[in-house]
Amino acid sequence: MTTATGEPRIDLLEDTWAERIPHAEMEWLRQNRPVHWHDGPASGEGFWCLTKWSDVREVSRQPRTFSVELGSPFIETHDEESLRLMALTLVSMDPPKHDRMRRLVSAGFTPRMTGLLEHKIAERAVHIVDSVIEEQACDFVQRIAAELPLQVICEMIGVPEEDRHLVFEWSNTLVGQQDPDFNRGPGAGEVAMVQMYAYCDRIAADRRIRPRDDIMSTLVHAEVDGDRLSPEELDMFFVTLAVAGNETTRNLIAHSMQALFDHPEARAELQSGLDDQMLWKSATEEFLRWGSSIVCFRRTAAEDTQVHGQPIRAGEKVVLYYISANRDEDVFVDPYRFDIRRNPNEHQAFGGGGIHYCLGANLARLEIRSMMQEVLRRLPDIRPDGEPARLRSNFINGIKRMPVRWD
Ligand code: HEM
Repeated sequence: MTTATGEPRIDLLEDTWAERIPHAEMEWLRQNRPVHWHDGPASGEGFWCLTKWSDVREVSRQPRTFSVELGSPFIETHDEESLRLMALTLVSMDPPKHDRMRRLVSAGFTPRMTGLLEHKIAERAVHIVDSVIEEQACDFVQRIAAELPLQVICEMIGVPEEDRHLVFEWSNTLVGQQDPDFNRGPGAGEVAMVQMYAYCDRIAADRRIRPRDDIMSTLVHAEVDGDRLSPEELDMFFVTLAVAGNETTRNLIAHSMQALFDHPEARAELQSGLDDQMLWKSATEEFLRWGSSIVCFRRTAAEDTQVHGQPIRAGEKVVLYYISANRDEDVFVDPYRFDIRRNPNEHQAFGGGGIHYCLGANLARLEIRSMMQEVLRRLPDIRPDGEPARLRSNFINGIKRMPVRWD
């Protein structure tokens, strides 16, 4: 669709994402208006869309000029109470608050902690496929893609198996508020958060007395220069992990499966090289670039500034479109080609670098690789069994359902 002046109509709000990924619009913006003013949703302010890789990178690395604390990192406007709670999460903090919190929680993401999980992740991927293999058909999102990240987060936090469905429900409620299938009505997000805090408090209290080899035990005891996380900060980190670690990885795995359905040669190559470490390493990066499960994050200009020559006034919102940066023709040769050997592949699926760069990046890489390897190994003829359904969200590039079958 075009406007009276012949330009494409640009609508990057949730209704568009429910239908499709607006690649054509983002490509037009990259080539014609890399810093574009977009009107806000009914419940939010207008914003500058940044679609070029270099601009996303530049803004990501200037946390003092482009703040997350002056507004939420999401496009919607939130009420005072949600903003107050959100301000306690890592993604919504500027330095120096961010430096302190990131130092504290990093104790749970050391190479040792990730290393401990590596073996468990591969084992869990095997069990997940075991649990569906006889059925010969399933919803790939719910039974396969969602399971591994959920189990890994629960394992890290120390949530027992019988309570996992609670974490699944809570994170769906928090992330799916724009989608009719997940929206549980006004206030449901706040209720989910309060339930999560109460739950987290219980686990934290237990780990204070009986530490185990899980993140929660590390975090309740983590200390940097005599400083510790407050119970409220710990609760909010639990919410962050449950959301940041679940939906992102789940959708990335679903997009990876779809990419292999759409690219049979790449699939055949991966299937015949299941133990080829180098190939799987580069393929995992391409899955991330291709799937870009986080569409964007928002910043607020803390002072008058400019991006790509466009003046931005203090207080104006700037949205960083990682998914567009990952198709930037100035950075990626043939960006719409799914190339499992792409090298270099400096995608921005985990952000544009800088202080908020994804804390779970290596964990996510491990999960994606393990799950996809196990699926191709054990379900070699897995194929689509109907159309996938997209999530209505301007934040998560999500697939809600994806029917598959195998013999
Ligand atoms: C495919 C999976 C994932 C994707 C695409 C993804 C993407 C991102 C992105 C785009 C950011 C923001 C970067 C920025 O603002 O510059 C981020 C931050 C973050 N991610 Fe991930 N993520 C994934 C998996 C995970 C996992 C598994 C965890 C934890 C278990 C995690 C934890 C976090 C946290 C805590 C932050 C905030 C970091 C900060 O503000 O300092 N993510 N992620």
